[in-house]
Amino acid sequence: MNTQTTDNILEQARAEISAAADLDAVEACRLHWLGRKGVVTQQLKQLGQLDAEARRSAGQQINQTKTTIVELLEARKQELQAAVLQQQLEQQRVDVSLPGTQHFRYGLHPVTRTMNRMVEIFECLGFQVATGPEIEDDEHNFEALNFPAHHPARAMHDTFYFGDGRLLRTHTSPVQIRALRAQPLPVRVIAPGRVYRSDSDQTHTPMFNQLEGLLVAEKVTFADLKGILQQFVNTFFEQALSMRLRPSYFPFTEPSAEVDIAWHKDDGSVSWLEVLGCGMVHPNVLENCGIDSERYTGYAFGMGIERFAMLRYGVTDLRQFFENELSFLEQFA
Ligand code: DAH
Repeated sequence: MNTQTTDNILEQARAEISAAADLDAVEACRLHWLGRKGVVTQQLKQLGQLDAEARRSAGQQINQTKTTIVELLEARKQELQAAVLQQQLEQQRVDVSLPGTQHFRYGLHPVTRTMNRMVEIFECLGFQVATGPEIEDDEHNFEALNFPAHHPARAMHDTFYFGDGRLLRTHTSPVQIRALRAQPLPVRVIAPGRVYRSDSDQTHTPMFNQLEGLLVAEKVTFADLKGILQQFVNTFFEQALSMRLRPSYFPFTEPSAEVDIAWHKDDGSVSWLEVLGCGMVHPNVLENCGIDSERYTGYAFGMGIERFAMLRYGVTDLRQFFENELSFLEQFA
């Protein structure tokens, strides 16, 4: 054993280790040089053949060589691991400048949400949902509701006619007639749905939604009507609201009233806002549905759903509900 030999070993090991292309190759090097049958191990075994003096210095050299090889292996291993990591980072690089995948937040339309809310409140008060067709006939939309032919009140309705006697219903009140003719008394229904009028400006659209209410039974009074409406507006707006009834006229109710609520505006002022029409069902309407108007009485009311949606959400132009601008709708997601 001489310096020449250990220098050779070290040189060869250094060359082999730095040529190792991957971690498996590094491990193969370790086995080749330091393994149980490795070159360095064999050298150590041969020490026994030397005399004491030579053994000590040769032993030191071999151990030194061994330590250096261990360090070389470790260094190469770390180099390769760093290269693998670098490669992974290159391959998995995230390009933050790429356009993202858009995720829209969907939600129910504000008018639908408002309608659902109104229906839920009335269902809690014992009303059941009734429906009728949007394409109606004159009899249900006007005649049976006590609008005789040529009655001036018909002119208030800007009706879309098909020309064959059919029309687009101008209000949900015809559902009163359908419910009273179809159901046994007492009748306690609400009818939400689309209605149509030839009218268009900031507060009118050719199609809008109404919610009709009707209760016909024995001993129904105007006080019952007022009570249910007060309860409804308080629940809907989540506050105790002042409410005012003004005398009004509808052919199908007598007496009739329009209902205002005291609305607190952002600037602190309060003003009366009309929110619905109502009244006691006209005896002619009951008789038109085969109901004894001496024995039975009832109340009815009708309100615009968009009007309630505008107040609840602070929307000032009714048409925004129907333009379907995403920037508008997304606010309700
Ligand atoms: N149908 C009426 C309209 O569209 C609203 C209305 C008023 C309905 C009074 C009612 C009522 O049931 O009692 O203008």
